[in-house]
Amino acid sequence: MPLRSQEWFGRTGKDGFIYRAWMKNQGFPHHEFEGKPVIGICNTWSELTPCNAHFRDLAEAVKRGVWEAGGFPLEFPVMSLGECQIKPTAMLFRNLASMDVEESIRGNSLDAVVLLCGCDKTTPSLVMGACSVNLPTLVVSGGPMLAGRFQGRKIGTSDLWRFAEDYKTGKMTQAEFVAAEASMARSQGHCAVMGTASTMAAMAESLGLALPDNATIPAADSRRKVLAHMAGMRAVELVKEDLKPSDILTRQAFENAIMVNAALGGSTNFIIHLMAIAGRVGVDLSLDDFDRLSAKIPLLANLQPSGEHFVEDLFYAGGLPAIIRELRGFLHNNVMTVNGRSLGDNCTGAQCFDPAVIASVDKPFKPESGIAVLKGNLCPNGAVLKPSAATPELMKHTGRAVVFENIDDYKARIDDPNLDVDPSCVLVLKNVGPKGYPGMPEVGNMQLPAKVLAQGVHDMVRISDGRMSGTGFGTVVLHVSPEAAVGGNLALVQDGDLITLDVEQRLLHLHVSDEELAGRLVQFKVPELGYDRGYVGLYIRHVTQAHEGADFDFLRGGSGSVVKRDSH
Ligand code: FES
Ligand code: MG
Repeated sequence: MPLRSQEWFGRTGKDGFIYRAWMKNQGFPHHEFEGKPVIGICNTWSELTPCNAHFRDLAEAVKRGVWEAGGFPLEFPVMSLGECQIKPTAMLFRNLASMDVEESIRGNSLDAVVLLCGCDKTTPSLVMGACSVNLPTLVVSGGPMLAGRFQGRKIGTSDLWRFAEDYKTGKMTQAEFVAAEASMARSQGHCAVMGTASTMAAMAESLGLALPDNATIPAADSRRKVLAHMAGMRAVELVKEDLKPSDILTRQAFENAIMVNAALGGSTNFIIHLMAIAGRVGVDLSLDDFDRLSAKIPLLANLQPSGEHFVEDLFYAGGLPAIIRELRGFLHNNVMTVNGRSLGDNCTGAQCFDPAVIASVDKPFKPESGIAVLKGNLCPNGAVLKPSAATPELMKHTGRAVVFENIDDYKARIDDPNLDVDPSCVLVLKNVGPKGYPGMPEVGNMQLPAKVLAQGVHDMVRISDGRMSGTGFGTVVLHVSPEAAVGGNLALVQDGDLITLDVEQRLLHLHVSDEELAGRLVQFKVPELGYDRGYVGLYIRHVTQAHEGADFDFLRGGSGSVVKRDSH
């Protein structure tokens, strides 16, 4: 099969001159253009995305592999999303970055692409974009940070939430805070816990889009560069084999990813991103698939925020291959992965070296895993909760609603000594959904009122149409759909309404009659969002609801890799 890149570089006359001449200003000899597979390296390096700040080095390792295998590597930048930097939330720009990636791949002289992914949204945005083009694609993740050390103990991102409470109640000083922040992020890489970044890296590996061990080798470990080198080599072979995402991302691959994520206690953000990716490749997933498939999977990984350890510990204990092997009785083991072998074959030699980090199916770390999908009149299209990160006693609870109309209202009143709240109440935060914020930020694990924290209470039932950081924990109901800003029943909750959460029954019920709700809906006004122009205006008009993956309606599916017209 002729190489796609030869439609650029293999041309005679004026067109070939144009496609090659300017590339030669980088010092490439003519023979590089004569039929070598061109491997794009899609780089999310940015100093504003500290989790990906080591990616120039990583890209060099990929290039060495590409050269060694006889390919021609060409690195290019795409929009990078730094979770902890970009306002109002990185999620607002995930779809924008995916469009950048899609068009950058399609419009250029590439035969395959290696995606350098790290910080939370940099994985789904790249995978979504690449899937809509469907050239051979391989994910290389940046790897987790080394666990931090602070005051004699190991820390990671999940400790931030504890530190914040201690600061609020005066147990920690500002000086200790500054010392803690320097101790936590002490090496290159993304968050050291099983937060969204590591969840996404594990998703790529369990879907079969990455080489074995992609999910867990620490960023600072030399083997991360070895993996990148091997990925570069493999990308050249992928071109020859014409192995594309559409060959790998079958429904069975998605089911595997859901089950592996359950065993890991991965982030709730997994749902939104996996749904969006499925939408790009035309696999029909629903929220119910997540509940149904993860219900039978126990929690195997003892990792923060559901447990104690860090992602580097998971690597030392055997990595994701050891988890996948332990789950072999549940998974579709015969599905093809990007290295040309099946998922099962990739893990036959895997072993668990530390049962304290990777438990067995027979003696799991916790029986409840995965993500519970709730239904009820408060969330007709679903809501989610992560049982492994919740308080068991609160998973069946009825309480009185304390309602915040939006994030500003919450920030203004949460610590008010006169707020009528006690630990049995249910905190309800509206208008933090895809359209309402806009961008569906990670504020769902809202901090408890100061006066509740002062009683030594660390968890309450919280409900919102927002998301939660993958590093967060608590009895937190997220992704309520439809969201408040489009007039979902969440918009109609009032102070004092009774709400029942019953995770075992998968129920989220507002004890208000249908007639009363219909009356309240008449009074409902769509909040004035104040963003008509530009990207944010486009986002509000086209973003889908959380249960559909919050992709743009017009981005579902793909457009392939063919470009019919030339640039001149
Ligand atoms: Fe980048 Fe956590 S902030 S992975
Ligand atoms: Mg996050």
